[in-house]
Amino acid sequence: MEKQTVNVGLLGLGTVGTGVVRIIQGHQEDLQKQTGLGINIHKILVQDKDKPRSIDTVSEWITTDANELLSDPLIDVIVEVIGGISPAKEYILQALEHGKHVVTANKDLMALHGAEILQKAQERGCDVFYEASVAGGIPILRALVEGFSSDRITKMMGIVNGTTNYILTKMTQEGADYAEVLKEAQELGYAEADPTSDVEGLDAARKMAILSTLGFRASVDLAEVDAKGISSVTKEDIAYGKKLGYVVKLLGLARRDDDEIEVSVQPTMIPKEHPLASVNGVFNAVYVHGEAVGETMFYGPGAGELPTATAVVSDLVTVVKNKKLGVNGRGMVAPYKEKKLKTDDKKLSKYFLRLIVADERGVLAQITKILADADISLEQVLQQPYNGGKQAEIIMVTHVAAKSSLDQVIGTFSDLSVIKEVKSCYRVEGGSVE
Ligand code: NAP
Ligand code: HSE
Repeated sequence: MEKQTVNVGLLGLGTVGTGVVRIIQGHQEDLQKQTGLGINIHKILVQDKDKPRSIDTVSEWITTDANELLSDPLIDVIVEVIGGISPAKEYILQALEHGKHVVTANKDLMALHGAEILQKAQERGCDVFYEASVAGGIPILRALVEGFSSDRITKMMGIVNGTTNYILTKMTQEGADYAEVLKEAQELGYAEADPTSDVEGLDAARKMAILSTLGFRASVDLAEVDAKGISSVTKEDIAYGKKLGYVVKLLGLARRDDDEIEVSVQPTMIPKEHPLASVNGVFNAVYVHGEAVGETMFYGPGAGELPTATAVVSDLVTVVKNKKLGVNGRGMVAPYKEKKLKTDDKKLSKYFLRLIVADERGVLAQITKILADADISLEQVLQQPYNGGKQAEIIMVTHVAAKSSLDQVIGTFSDLSVIKEVKSCYRVEGGSVE
């Protein structure tokens, strides 16, 4: 007789793992109606068996021995929500070796070793899905792979890290202190165990590597994503941005022009009318532009227990449906496009610059000459006294310029004695390159 349930081995019972148990238990009837099979949690791997848990689980489910799950012939699918590279990678490869399908929320792992894992899955005829790894509860990976399969994507912009968006929103709306809000984000379960990867842009870079690989159908490595985080963003920058009509967001950008691509993550000034400017708190959003469809935007909770768990369990549902159809491991389309990365002279953007200068005659003229020599013209300029009037602060927004020219200008500024400090430099979204 055919099996009536699918057995799941859950690796991890933290924020996401707890949500997975809640969704599987709470939505059991709906899941069964959609798949025709029951979904049963068979065993759960944790690090500390004695840790108090916020959900009731059957005590026999819980173990600290990974082999009890990975080599249990009764387990059909392994859900990996422990995070990190090791031992998650070894566990996933071992699970695939045993012919088990895998669902993971692990962007660290998929951004770095996704190709190897997917290759192994294909060899073993297994599914590997990782929807929750990017933008938590937003089904963006499925949208890119299936929804946009008939189009050619030219640009993706993502607010894909909930922790930093939460911090920047509180700094913008309440003038809150960076360190205090980071602590709050950790307590709410948004930040990674080590929040450095959130605030330094690495978490968002991993997600942009995954998004651009799927969206551009070309294999984009994590090392090819230029990443800068928010730890140097100040309340002053946010206030000046506001004065000029911009909101500061940690923005992932993936752009394709003439088959050449650029992928980056950096604090960016976004015009306050842009739909991404009003994505606040822990919410994420991914803007996708397709040649045929034009502009689309996907919005939703990017982290947290239940939103992330919905993405994990939806992947589980796909595995179960594939199982019923007998097509596990056959749906994957490997990246097939040749990847050509843009050089810095082809990366075009407007920029916001804040300089502290000597308050002397002719300083502005020297600055504008350096900019003009690098073929950069100005869209807006503000000047005001600084340091009790002993110095001046100059805030500028450039017209569209090449990144190579901007880097050259900043190098020259640093050598000029009348320029005391280049306080900040941000990419500005918008302008004629759109
Ligand atoms: P978490 O709260 O830190 O939970 C990790 C769980 O894994 C804990 O139950 C821990 O056991 C267990 N664990 C860790 N290392 C282990 C090991 N070596 N052996 C056995 N068990 C181990 O993490 P999380 O926030 O749920 O995140 C899980 C994954 O989802 C990560 O890849 C993360 O990037 C991703 N993700 C998280 C979110 C979110 O909102 N949190 C959103 C999207 C994606 P103990 O409980 O015994 O300590
Ligand atoms: N730390 C991540 C974030 C969790 O803040 O977005 C979701 O991937």
